[in-house]
Amino acid sequence: MTAAVQQSSVRRADAQRPRFAHPAEAEFAAFLDFYRIAWEYEPRSFPLRWQDGRIVEQFTPDFYLPEQDLYVELTTMKQSLVTRKHRKVRRLRELYPHVNIVLLYRKDYHEILSRFGYGSVDITSLRPDQIERVLLSPAEIQRRVAELGQQISTDYAGESLVLVGVLKGITFFLADLARAITRPLAIDYLQLSRDLREGVAIRKDLDLDIRGKHVLLVEDIVNTGLTLDFIMRVLREREPASLEVCALLDKAERRLVPVPVKYVGFTIPNEFVVGYGLDYRELYRNLPFICVLKREVYEANGNGHLIGGTGQEAAAEAAEPSLVATRVEVGSG
Ligand code: IMP
Repeated sequence: MTAAVQQSSVRRADAQRPRFAHPAEAEFAAFLDFYRIAWEYEPRSFPLRWQDGRIVEQFTPDFYLPEQDLYVELTTMKQSLVTRKHRKVRRLRELYPHVNIVLLYRKDYHEILSRFGYGSVDITSLRPDQIERVLLSPAEIQRRVAELGQQISTDYAGESLVLVGVLKGITFFLADLARAITRPLAIDYLQLSRDLREGVAIRKDLDLDIRGKHVLLVEDIVNTGLTLDFIMRVLREREPASLEVCALLDKAERRLVPVPVKYVGFTIPNEFVVGYGLDYRELYRNLPFICVLKREVYEANGNGHLIGGTGQEAAAEAAEPSLVATRVEVGSG
């Protein structure tokens, strides 16, 4: 089971885009699309005043963000408009106290991201304009992780299991997935080192004996499949009762060796991605979303020239032992 990265769930084809009343609304919609935050345009009107049983005033907020259950009314700095809108919002809150609504100025767009789980954008060194493309939003990741947890809990009904995570990219995915699985489970970690002469080796081995246990190997991303193939061979020798794989991301088109991945979070295109545990030279793991960075970011890290092509390509190639001339800890995982 897999979920290819769906643009359509968030981004609309041009034909489906609503006719916006104001250019600021189109701009805000593009901002939401970029961060893959789902939105609806003017989906509901709230009656505010009645006379003789007839509605004489109503308020239609510009946007509804279903993932946050939040209405957004955009406003400009023009004082007369602001005062009127404030009054309407106040009245709406009085009449419909369960409805969440914010009045938003253009300068506040980025500030509201923290409401949507994008908080650590502020605490990384990354500027929003250095992000080429957000591939998966925090909400999309969490939804999928919950689905995977449910599926795994069903498949392992009546059993307990050992989750084996491959450090360090697995940090956040394993923590979230483990909490979404409703079976008794133990957690253990492996870490690999890769050396051009000596090949892939285990740097940190499991603490637990997995003989006779149901083992679920949890990986951040499967690319060529070489890493996974190596780990599977090592673990199989230890004779677990069963051995399956759950990978958050699958770059299926990059596969060199066939590996049996039973649970896939998302099938993604062949682009170098960071965030939600995935790093480039140990950076960006704490981004709460998964994204492709602009070339300048890799260049700033002194690696844009490594292989040629785009910075992203350079980063992707850097993860491949065959292309790197000296000893490297290839993606510390
Ligand atoms: P494989 O052996 O080619 O399947 O590569 C798997 C490992 O490469 C992963 O566990 C990651 O550590 C690293 N990797 C591959 N693609 C990416 C990426 O897009 N971002 C970050 N790390 C990656």
